[in-house]
Amino acid sequence: MRIVIMGPPGAGKGTQARRLSAELKVPHIATGDMLREAVKEGTELGERVRWYMERGKLVPDEVMIAVVRERLSKPDCSMGFILDGFPRTIPQAEALNRILEEQGAKLDCVLEIDVPEDIIVERISLRRVCRRCESAYHLKYNPPKEEGRCDRCGGELYQREDDKEEVVRRRIKVYREETEPVLEYYRRRGLLRRVNGVGSIDEVFSRVLEAIRGGCIGGGDDRAPIRLDEEENRATPA
Ligand code: AP5
Repeated sequence: MRIVIMGPPGAGKGTQARRLSAELKVPHIATGDMLREAVKEGTELGERVRWYMERGKLVPDEVMIAVVRERLSKPDCSMGFILDGFPRTIPQAEALNRILEEQGAKLDCVLEIDVPEDIIVERISLRRVCRRCESAYHLKYNPPKEEGRCDRCGGELYQREDDKEEVVRRRIKVYREETEPVLEYYRRRGLLRRVNGVGSIDEVFSRVLEAIRGGCIGGGDDRAPIRLDEEENRATPA
């Protein structure tokens, strides 16, 4: 299955995508994790993107599209993937269509994890992430068994640089302005499934599975999809 998972910063995309990846046995591709890894390793890509990430801004489309194109060409993606953090702009969504078309593949569905802003801020402020494997913990709702250590790999837990309040506010603003239009783009194609992201991690995961069963296999959006003419902005009701 080819699934995109979307939602505001701190909505729980990574948390749910990791579980889904284990459940469906397809790779979890998280662009934020890939970029942080590049920054940590000091690669050319890392040097290029650091400035944007520290400020909560989006990395330029051409950089992200090249990164995702390369990743999706790897053999482990041939049976599907969970894409987390991409696309974040309309040009990225259009590029993803092209990449999949070239592979003779298509998306099964797009999940939106819907969480109000006050909960986002609480989730992000108490998030701790593993330096080694990027697993996310929450000091109150999902604490590690041993303080400061990752349950999965024993790596050190730290607070992300871009989780400081001022940067978080910028990331939320960027999401509203640049990424929310992508939700509409997918809704019009009948691919979007909205999942209530408020509740425990297990509760949200049950809803994610339900949305996939109902929406990604032979289902569709709650609202009638709109038939698209050649050019996207000439969409007409089906
Ligand atoms: P990225 O890493 O993708 O950040 P994000 O989208 O802002 O999402 P987060 O990782 O902050 O949150 P999440 O939704 O995964 O939540 P999580 O599961 O951790 O991107 C970072 C930066 O990279 C961007 O700002 C940009 O600069 C750049 N970038 C990346 N992709 C790009 C692209 N395509 N184009 C341009 N730039 C790009 O959960 C959050 C916390 O809540 C955790 O502590 C977790 O334990 C806890 N939690 C989760 N679910 C629950 C629950 N149900 N109840 C209680 N706690 C919960």
